[in-house]
Amino acid sequence: MKVIVTGSFDESSRMVAQRITQIITQKPAAKLGLATGGSCEGIYAHLVELYKAGQLDFSQVRTVNLDEYVGMSPDNPLSYRKYMNSNLFDHVNIDKANTYVPGGMGDPEEEIKTFRSKVREGGWADFQLLGIGVSGHIGFNEARDTLQASAHLEELDESTIRANSRYFEDESQVPRRAMTMGMGDILSAEEIMLIASGPSKVEAIRGLIMDDTVTTHNPSTFLKLHRNATVVIDRELADWVGWKG
Ligand code: F6R
Repeated sequence: MKVIVTGSFDESSRMVAQRITQIITQKPAAKLGLATGGSCEGIYAHLVELYKAGQLDFSQVRTVNLDEYVGMSPDNPLSYRKYMNSNLFDHVNIDKANTYVPGGMGDPEEEIKTFRSKVREGGWADFQLLGIGVSGHIGFNEARDTLQASAHLEELDESTIRANSRYFEDESQVPRRAMTMGMGDILSAEEIMLIASGPSKVEAIRGLIMDDTVTTHNPSTFLKLHRNATVVIDRELADWVGWKG
């Protein structure tokens, strides 16, 4: 696993957007695993800029998102489908039929079946984008005694509910359950990039980059088992964590 330290969060976002651009340029029908959340907004903004500058063509790109809240309608402004449309898909020439965000509304068991087939459809992802939760979750694979390999339902941790309540009226409005790609799905991507910034991520990133331990209690540490995973953090976060590299 590689660690890259940039001068700022914006520089991190630009670097990841540039890597995604290279991948799409080399393989126009690339399959991308995408994430939502504050950490990824800058990346999508840069991708839209690059598209508008004529440097990117999404016409053949296929995408699968990491997760969605159970019970969340795709029309809800807080849904991850809406997030993807408004941050990226509505601004580029992607065919929305080639994009998949898990459906929050149907029977969860049926949705999981569809999710599992979409994750594998046409092969595993060429690239997987990740943020990281306060307790080290990737996707919504929460810190537990055991983790799951394939797409599944998760009860969200208190720390995740608290962190994500910033988007909702209050904590009680945050859905308690979500569907997420499993650890095996994420680790099957050809290449993975995780972006993190800010003080709330210090403990999770410390576990990820400061030693060689792999633990289900910080699911991000499984990226140490991947042969092409990169963690992109800014200098500020690196200093808080104590990373000297
Ligand atoms: C979102 C996702 C989550 C977030 C993580 C960080 O699709 O899978 O793992 O990446 O919760 O969220 P932010 O970036 O909002 O701090």
